[in-house]
Amino acid sequence: MRVSLSGAWLAFLTVAQLHGCASAPPAASGPPPAPPTAEETSVKPGINDHYFEPESNARYVRLLEAETREIVQRREEIVDALNLREGMEVADIGAGTGVLTTVMAERVGDRGTVHAVDIVPSFLERIRRRVDEAGLGNVVVVHGEERATGLPSASLDLALMCDTYHHIEYPESYLRSVLESLRGGGAFVVIDMKRKEGASPVLLNHVRADKQTVVDEIEEAGFVLEKEIDLLRHNYYLLFRRP
Ligand SMILES: C[S@@+](CC[C@H](N)C(=O)[O-])C[C@H]1O[C@@H](n2cnc3c(N)ncnc32)[C@H](O)[C@@H]1O
Repeated sequence: MRVSLSGAWLAFLTVAQLHGCASAPPAASGPPPAPPTAEETSVKPGINDHYFEPESNARYVRLLEAETREIVQRREEIVDALNLREGMEVADIGAGTGVLTTVMAERVGDRGTVHAVDIVPSFLERIRRRVDEAGLGNVVVVHGEERATGLPSASLDLALMCDTYHHIEYPESYLRSVLESLRGGGAFVVIDMKRKEGASPVLLNHVRADKQTVVDEIEEAGFVLEKEIDLLRHNYYLLFRRP
């Protein structure tokens, strides 16, 4: 399907680059989303559809990797604040093209592992290439599902979701899966876009929930909010723990 760059979409791209997110515009024409197969229905049907379209893939890759993007510009500081140590087993959930995966892999070293999870095959392929080029042998690429991470149970010291929470269509099921993947006391870090006052309607539509709603949903799933790290301008940075 060919997607035309409407004025609204162009406006969104500008905002999206600023805010470090490069996802789908509001619902375009196309096939209706698949009917839910479990009890939970999608909170944002179609939000990931454009990532799968070969015609638009290159554009999303550019947006995710743009040096003007806050997440890319400040990737070292973002990973510093995770306090990773050699030998840790961690995950980059919704890893996209892996802009944070490689930094995390350097920090956990040869004895550690980074599981890079995404649902878009072309992104996973790009992560494989990136990791090969960097000579990193400690990244496991995981083709996840819409409702579950695909990660082994009780295995992780830390799971990161950067600019991804608002792309999760089935948060209740997905959070259950993230919780199960963590060891007791393991950290769950969520970095996501601020819904600032005066933000464009396109952005407000794209990012369905504000920070407090996100905190409530994650606590409801069984996590405990430990702290907020004041680091980024366009994104909040929250650290939860599995009790
Ligand atoms: C805005 S991108 C952020 C990518 C990356 N974390 C970054 O900051 O560069 C959102 C990512 O979430 C992924 N995603 C959406 N739903 C997902 C799910 N259920 N499981 C794993 N990844 C998912 C998308 O494919 C996309 O790569």
